[in-house]
Amino acid sequence: MANKTVTLTDNTTGKSIELPIMDPTHGNSVVDIGKLAKEFGYFTYDPGFVSTASCKSTITFLDGERGQLYYRGYPIEQLAAKCCFLEVAYLLLNGRLPTEQELSEFQYIIGHHNMMRENLRYNLIRGFNYDAHPMAMMTGIVGSLSAFYHDNLDIYNPEHRMITSHRLIAKIPTIAAACYKHNTGQPFVFPQNHLTYCGNLLHMMFAVPCEPYHVDPVAEKALDVLFILHADHEQNASTSTVRLAGSSGANPYAAIAAGVASLWGPAHGGANEAVLKMLAEIGDVSNIDKYIARAKDKDDSFRLMGFGHRVYRNYDPRAKLIKEVCHQVLAKYGDDPHLELAMKLEDIALSDEFFIERKLYPNVDFYSGIIYKALGIPINMFTVMFAVARTVGWISHWKEMIDDPELKIGRPRQLYVGEAHRDVPDLADR
Ligand code: ACO
Repeated sequence: MANKTVTLTDNTTGKSIELPIMDPTHGNSVVDIGKLAKEFGYFTYDPGFVSTASCKSTITFLDGERGQLYYRGYPIEQLAAKCCFLEVAYLLLNGRLPTEQELSEFQYIIGHHNMMRENLRYNLIRGFNYDAHPMAMMTGIVGSLSAFYHDNLDIYNPEHRMITSHRLIAKIPTIAAACYKHNTGQPFVFPQNHLTYCGNLLHMMFAVPCEPYHVDPVAEKALDVLFILHADHEQNASTSTVRLAGSSGANPYAAIAAGVASLWGPAHGGANEAVLKMLAEIGDVSNIDKYIARAKDKDDSFRLMGFGHRVYRNYDPRAKLIKEVCHQVLAKYGDDPHLELAMKLEDIALSDEFFIERKLYPNVDFYSGIIYKALGIPINMFTVMFAVARTVGWISHWKEMIDDPELKIGRPRQLYVGEAHRDVPDLADR
């Protein structure tokens, strides 16, 4: 139906305003409140942006009620079954799947941007303490890239935007592996272009100069699927951070460094690390009831990590796929007592009234940590792996935002509830 509107009426003054309704391809309709402040004199109040669409996007759609996720209109299950990570990266970045020829050109381009400047490796990474958290290093290093690549930083030049996108996708695994090597004290390992994107990452993390390293196809495939599932998730906290930082015209390396920092939090990408710490703390199946009771207790800050999601009010479709991968990996790498504990915890939580009522289901991070652990990846690297995969989503959103003719600097308003007016007393009188 054309020209749908809603009317907002101030019940005190009787004054009304008619606001247009915008229809999406999928999902909830959106009320366009752009003229509300100017014509009606009101702001809206929406902590956590639970009812606010911050932009138009054509990249990803998730249906929280049905538990479905699409990249550029393709269901995540089909992409995970039929594509490799770089195909999905091309899709997110360019809006369509590559042909065979385009994929091989893309692999070539990514392969030819994947080294790090020696200065960065020798001086910047080695400047961090040996035990620095790799996410702290990642935040700093990604931000520093603009100091190395200022030759292509005109954000209004489409060619520069594409080169920067390729550089970020190509270099992020090399940087992640270098952070890991710095933590372990082992020599850095250079990328190898005969390997796949994920095979290369495993190689750079686990190869040592004194013996050959063979990439295990089970580990490589598991990582590839995990990366596809983590590649994008529409306007989540880190992606919104990238958009907000980038909306000022800041360079994309700086914007994505802000995204890395946002991802680190335990309510977001840091949850995979938090899940394993929680499973270790629970320790044994016999303790589950005690922890479920704590998660339900309003006076206890403990939450079941890896459970719940702002948008999904159903099983996270990524968690379903990851659970399968988890079983495949553990069949090869041996059982992990954490898996048994996780499955039991999931069973109990899913049959508990508290979790049913609030529609709290396992999210993508509930099982991903168990897979990473089985692959020999240390806990403090889990969020880094997420950041490597999500870089393609961040850069796709940044590109889309810069191309958007409606782009404005992001500048939320506030409901000021502080002191109205105070005069500054002299120091001696305070
Ligand atoms: N354990 C116990 N209770 C929970 C949990 C949980 N994991 N998650 C939500 N709840 C409860 C809340 O206490 C609240 O209960 P109430 O209505 O009685 O007050 C209700 O469920 C709704 O929760 P909110 O916090 O309002 O939901 P919100 O959408 O703001 O939070 C979030 C979503 C942050 C993901 C939350 O579920 C959470 O903290 N989960 C654990 C951390 C986690 O796994 N994060 C990863 C998210 S996925 C990702 O970023 C990749």
